[in-house]
Amino acid sequence: MLLKTAAKVLLTHTGLEEKEVLSLLEIPPQPEWGDLAFPCFVLAKKLRKSPQQIALELAEAISHEEGLSASAAGAYVNITLNRSVQIPLMLAELNKPDFLKPDIGHGQRVVIDMSSPNIAKPFGIGHLRSTVIGAALYRILGETGHVPISVNHLGDWGTQFGKQIAAYKRWGNDEQLQQDPIGESLKLYVRFHQEAEHDPSLEEEGREWFRRLEHGDAEAQRLWEFFVEVSLGEFDRMYQRLNITFDHVLGESFYNDKMQAVVAQLRAKELLEESDGALVVRLEEEELPPCLILKKDGTTIYPTRDLATAIYRREVMKADWLLYVVGGEQRLHFQQVFAVLKRAGETWAEQCEHVPFGLMRFAGKKMSTRRGKVVKLEEVLDEAVARAQAIITQKNPDLQDQQEIAEDVGIGAIIFGDLKNNRLNEVDFSLEEALTFEGETGPYVQYTHARIRSLLEKAYARTHAGAHSDFSGTVPAQEKHSSELTDASSEILGDAGWELLKQLDRYHGQLIRAVRQLEPSVMARFALDTAQAFNRFYAKERIVGGGRWRIQLAEQTADILASTLQLLGLKAPNRM
Ligand code: ARG
Repeated sequence: MLLKTAAKVLLTHTGLEEKEVLSLLEIPPQPEWGDLAFPCFVLAKKLRKSPQQIALELAEAISHEEGLSASAAGAYVNITLNRSVQIPLMLAELNKPDFLKPDIGHGQRVVIDMSSPNIAKPFGIGHLRSTVIGAALYRILGETGHVPISVNHLGDWGTQFGKQIAAYKRWGNDEQLQQDPIGESLKLYVRFHQEAEHDPSLEEEGREWFRRLEHGDAEAQRLWEFFVEVSLGEFDRMYQRLNITFDHVLGESFYNDKMQAVVAQLRAKELLEESDGALVVRLEEEELPPCLILKKDGTTIYPTRDLATAIYRREVMKADWLLYVVGGEQRLHFQQVFAVLKRAGETWAEQCEHVPFGLMRFAGKKMSTRRGKVVKLEEVLDEAVARAQAIITQKNPDLQDQQEIAEDVGIGAIIFGDLKNNRLNEVDFSLEEALTFEGETGPYVQYTHARIRSLLEKAYARTHAGAHSDFSGTVPAQEKHSSELTDASSEILGDAGWELLKQLDRYHGQLIRAVRQLEPSVMARFALDTAQAFNRFYAKERIVGGGRWRIQLAEQTADILASTLQLLGLKAPNRM
């Protein structure tokens, strides 16, 4: 909105295109220099003048426009908006659907592959990141005119289930399995790998069980179902606490009967080649290693299942855009799958996109399922909530619903601690850091939001008590001549309030940027900057009793903070 105002004026004076002007406008490093700065370098060639000269002339021309003033500073034109004109306009803009929910998706259907943990294995940190990033993208896309469709692509198929069953047949203990299904399954799996090192027959046994499973053997099927059921029970507990639901939960096994068609399609296109008894698609042109399609023993493999999956998402789910929120270590896998799709003549392969993310460590620990060294996620969530509870009790001992709020804050700290990072970055996660109420954290944003709500309650109560109302009063701009207002206009919100309003004004653009980059951290950063801008406003200016514009600014800050938190997957409690 702010940019648009300045851009409109610049358009008429520079002859540049709107897009160009928008991309050139900068925020000056010092607020005293103005609200926006326009660099004149690009015009120099066209006009055959020095940028400094152009800045002088442009500033002179622009300052005759209403609602702003301008001055040249070197090669830049600094533009200062007339606050009394802009404040009511900008505040009104913040409520408009076009501003809050820009329709850039035009109903595009986006299938998001997210979470996708493996059955009979603990829910890993990578799966947590996929869940949290995927869910945030889901909401961000939904807010911007797309139709997001989430799919939990459970890892419920593959040779490892053969190994799992083989291990169970050798050493399984039903009682222990019932008690701690995933822990026990993991133990079996680890033991399998340890013993297989000096007993190669085990590997063969595992392969045999998987072969039986793929051919519908009743015992294999029964054991597999058991593992799926107990695992889903544990995952669901986690999803509930993270407040996540899926549109579809379709494991890899769902595609069992859809893979022969893929193999046939590849064969018909003469893409399949034999290699050591296995069938592969060579991808030399793409400079990628060959993609394995069928193993020597005729069993299918991860890429085959992903080919069938993509085709299903395109044809049955009618996906226009296919996103895969999966760790960066699977980059090659997705390059291969997308390349094979393209070779197979699926032109929409261009619409498939891997959305990778970096590794996350909790307190320096890395995880390896095979060796069984695993950070239990549920324990991390519990600890976060316990710590949040302790902080809240200390800060606000009389608070009601402490347990519920501690859950919102503890879980929120973990989600935000993940999302505030550029998704490709590696994250060294520290629970202590994520929970500080003063740092760049979820609780800090939540706390700022709650503080505004309680401030507003005070203001409302005051009005009821008959004090000078913060909710009426004169409209500063429209009712008087703007020339009289230039001096007073800086007082309407105060400098810090004006900076806060400009920050809120960025919401629309940041939301669009978050979609373009598929990057929830853009919104997390926005939430932090907004909370910081509010806290400066709060420290410097009188809000309650400061007039209706300040109250309205506070209200809209709280609303925008709440919706940003919600987009990221955090609750925004009104009290903390
Ligand atoms: N289950 C896999 C894993 O844990 C992730 C699946 C990702 N999605 C996909 N369509 N391949 O590594």
